[in-house]
Amino acid sequence: MILVTGGAGFIGSNFVLDWRAAHPGEAVLNLDALTYAGNRENLASLAGDAGHVFVHGDITDRALVDRLLAEHQPRAIVHFAAESHVDRSIHGPGAFVKTNIEGTYTLLEAARAHWSALGEAAKAAFRFLHVSTDEVYGSLGPQDAPFTETHPYEPNSPYSASKAASDHLVRAWHHTYGLPVLTTNCSNNYGPFHFPEKLIPLMIVNALAGKPLPVYGDGLQVRDWLYVKDHCSAIRAVLAGGRLGETYNVGGWNEKPNIEIVHTVCALLDELQPRADGQSYRSQITHVKDRPGHDRRYAIDARKVERELGWRPAETFETGIRKTVQWYLHNPQWVQRVQSGAYREWVQTQYAA
Ligand code: NAD
Ligand code: DAU
Repeated sequence: MILVTGGAGFIGSNFVLDWRAAHPGEAVLNLDALTYAGNRENLASLAGDAGHVFVHGDITDRALVDRLLAEHQPRAIVHFAAESHVDRSIHGPGAFVKTNIEGTYTLLEAARAHWSALGEAAKAAFRFLHVSTDEVYGSLGPQDAPFTETHPYEPNSPYSASKAASDHLVRAWHHTYGLPVLTTNCSNNYGPFHFPEKLIPLMIVNALAGKPLPVYGDGLQVRDWLYVKDHCSAIRAVLAGGRLGETYNVGGWNEKPNIEIVHTVCALLDELQPRADGQSYRSQITHVKDRPGHDRRYAIDARKVERELGWRPAETFETGIRKTVQWYLHNPQWVQRVQSGAYREWVQTQYAA
């Protein structure tokens, strides 16, 4: 069995579904606090699957984590649980420090105690895989080379600073205690179950609801996009073959300015579900106040994971974004239920001005 944290969130739930399909013989213990971003409905297709055990709990709860490790003896921990939204970190950084830093620390200490007591074979096989982000490297200029694994850490938001801190803890637990860790630093994901506070799902659901499409500042900030299932396959590859203590950057060589992403979403919706008045969804675009401290450009150099582990993404941006838009069109009830929760209050706080 493996222990997954944050497996009811966007990437975590995609990973759990992907793992159950790829490794039907190995169960998943899924520990998730079900914050606003956790949604058990993402895992509905696993109902009745004895290979998926869900535990509603917090990664900062050391006694709970100790008990789960002792009872279930997972051979690996794949750690997704985090506060993940940059805008929320600007409004309220405390939760990011608590979950991303203290939560990772708690897991590392529990993992260390558990791993130290294992027999030789189990000890050698054990892995702690920490899922992190390209945002820890800071912002690139237009001509800068993409981030490699040796790029200096220069986090600029409370979110990226908290993730950077967690990466440093993971690194230190390897160097000081020998804990067998792996870290992945991935670029922006998109795909099914993406919470509609993030750019791509927000644009899709707002467009369909006839609402404004809020583009921050000039919309020329650049992100490097990867279809979520390709991130999942990269994590599986690193877990299976990554070298202990190493970090692996994950990305699909898909740099795009935000405004181009929004235009692509509008064009797909114009094709797949045209507006009743015959106008393009582009007419809903509105430029709003920029995000404070907004990083201008991220780009990932993924050559290490490609070279060492033979990983390649299966989707291009064109195939992935079409699948994503289609998924949202086919799942209006998922969107509706997400929006009837705490999400609504957040939208009011963020876009009231
Ligand atoms: P998400 O916000 O969609 O999901 C986070 C999940 O963690 C939720 O299910 C939530 O309930 C759970 N969680 C939060 N606090 C918890 C706690 N204290 N204890 C237990 N569970 C808790 O996030 P995501 O976008 O799926 O990101 C997952 C991980 O991947 C994060 O570590 C994030 O930093 C990293 N990452 C995300 C992206 C991206 O584009 N979304 C890219 C690179 C890396
Ligand atoms: O790079 C990886 C990171 O990608 C992950 O570590 C984070 O968890 C994830 O949230 C994401 O961070 P971003 O800040 O890049 O994603 P977001 O979808 O919030 O924004 C993408 C870009 O779009 C960013 O430049 C801000 C802009 N944006 C976002 C929103 C929500 C808008 O212009 N308008 C919006 O309403």
